[in-house]
Amino acid sequence: MCGIVGYIGHREAYPIILKGLKRLEYRGYDSAGIALFDGSDIKLSKTKGKVDDLQNRLEREIPTKGTLGIGHTRWATHGVPNDINSHPHYSNSGNLVIIHNGIIENYESLKKELIKRGYTFKSDTDTEVLVNLIEDVKKNEDIKLGKAVQIALNQVVGAYAIAVFDKNKPNEIVVARLGSPLAIGIGENEFFIASDASPFIEYTKNAIYLEDEEMAVVRLEKGVKIRKIKDDSLVDPYVQELKLNLEQIEKGGYDHFMLKEIYEQPNAILDTFRGRMLPNEGIIKMAGVEDNMKTFLNANRIIVVACGTSWHAGLVSEYIFEDLARIPVEVEYASEFRYRNPVITDKDVVIAISQSGETADTLAAIKLAKSRGAFVFGVCNVVGSSIARETDAGAYTHAGPEIGVASTKAFTTQITVLTLIALRLARAKGTISSSEFRQHMIELELIPEKVKKSLESDDYVKSISEIYKNAGNFLYLGRGYNFPVALEGALKLKEISYIHAEGYPAAEMKHGPIALIDENMPIVVIATKKGHYEKVVSNIQEIKSRKGKIIGIVTEGDQQVKALADHVIEVPETIESLTPLLTTIPLQLLSYHIALMLGKNVDQPRNLAKAVTVE
Ligand code: F6R
Repeated sequence: MCGIVGYIGHREAYPIILKGLKRLEYRGYDSAGIALFDGSDIKLSKTKGKVDDLQNRLEREIPTKGTLGIGHTRWATHGVPNDINSHPHYSNSGNLVIIHNGIIENYESLKKELIKRGYTFKSDTDTEVLVNLIEDVKKNEDIKLGKAVQIALNQVVGAYAIAVFDKNKPNEIVVARLGSPLAIGIGENEFFIASDASPFIEYTKNAIYLEDEEMAVVRLEKGVKIRKIKDDSLVDPYVQELKLNLEQIEKGGYDHFMLKEIYEQPNAILDTFRGRMLPNEGIIKMAGVEDNMKTFLNANRIIVVACGTSWHAGLVSEYIFEDLARIPVEVEYASEFRYRNPVITDKDVVIAISQSGETADTLAAIKLAKSRGAFVFGVCNVVGSSIARETDAGAYTHAGPEIGVASTKAFTTQITVLTLIALRLARAKGTISSSEFRQHMIELELIPEKVKKSLESDDYVKSISEIYKNAGNFLYLGRGYNFPVALEGALKLKEISYIHAEGYPAAEMKHGPIALIDENMPIVVIATKKGHYEKVVSNIQEIKSRKGKIIGIVTEGDQQVKALADHVIEVPETIESLTPLLTTIPLQLLSYHIALMLGKNVDQPRNLAKAVTVE
């Protein structure tokens, strides 16, 4: 899981690659490197650390001249993050240089063979094996780089997006993909290579997304020639016009992407239901659902597969689908589902939820479900992502790019899409009346304004964060629709502040976690008026009698919890099924402020990456 960037054209490559790598740091940031062709030779600099560390080192180490280059920001898989294991990697002769995102699973056996043939290796990486395999094939068969890459990749088992060039042929870059994304930006006799379009969006809106098992030779003057890696057949390049703009990608005046993305939620939710929901006409239309209505209506059950925050959105959908559409739902961690030999039939509908659309376990769960005859529907944010393409049908969350590693707007827009689907199915099945259906739509339409209102608690949440920032543990409690929100609140806190936090169904507290409660334990309790309110109030009383510190998330105007809790954060009133869209907001802000006060890197927490493309 890494970010790759390449450039060949008439401009200086270095600034383009450097800026591109900074935009791709969400994909990994434990080391970085750039290789440039200076007109006669390859100049390479790489280092453990972030792209800023690379910039400091590179500008002292090598000239930054050249109109051809490749760069990489890494999230280590094979070999610890250090200078030597950083990409790019040279071949033994020094003629070839490569960057790679993915894992070559059979690299050890390939390495043994290459060692027998006299090759030596400096790093512990699978990537250095691949570049030498390409060199070996090229040398033995005296063929062009593109052909050598193709033959080498046919010997490889694993996943990759690669870019490689030869210093003796500095008018081309060869790229290939299997399982890791790769886009080619097409300019005026200049080409950009990247893991997504963000590195080249200000230079061109025209891009080709390589499909799995495709490779391309990107050549100055001649353009892009795409082939199937396996059978060598030529593929007609499909050039897409990108809708993404740079402003959407950059921080837009906020200190961090995470904060920007938290504040983008009113619009993101609006964009997600806009055009799909027409309350006045009493209509919800989503092409992916309409086209497959029979399959949905005949389904015995829905199985949701996802990871992390997306799994939490899946848990919320379990309540929504069962409540509104009366369809049984099972929510599975994709990583467990795929290895469990699950019972799946062609009467099952699988919904795969993923912000990035690249999560390896979710992708594998989809493939498994499809192979057993299930219909698979995707809920993704990244357009054209692997999951979006692998599923039978789907609906995008229109959240815009999410760069902060901690997922925020993806969660609320996933819930929005899932609510629309549940409502549409409920109406088709007749499990809700037309007035209930209309009422839900009217309430959903009000949500963006209510999210804005919830964001007004920001300063107050900040003052609470100041009080509890040094706590060693947090508990998050919720019931019903807000149980998954408790899990999500705990995940947000632990992943960016590194404070241990657990989420529980409020009533489960008595079965163990209550033993943890003392005067040092902050407990966030979601206690909105709709949804088991009185029961949650009893749980709050139990906490209070054990001296726990209570932070209540309550409905505007609440008095009962206010009288018991140490602090209350108000959110506007809505119908029960939509409360997660509001109660989530203060929990996101709480984790953001605590992490910031503790001096943590909010957008790039340690050990994490935005798209988990390894198992
Ligand atoms: C948490 C977070 C992760 C992701 C998970 C799935 O803030 O971002 O838990 O939700 O890695 O990622 P996607 O949704 O891209 O499949």
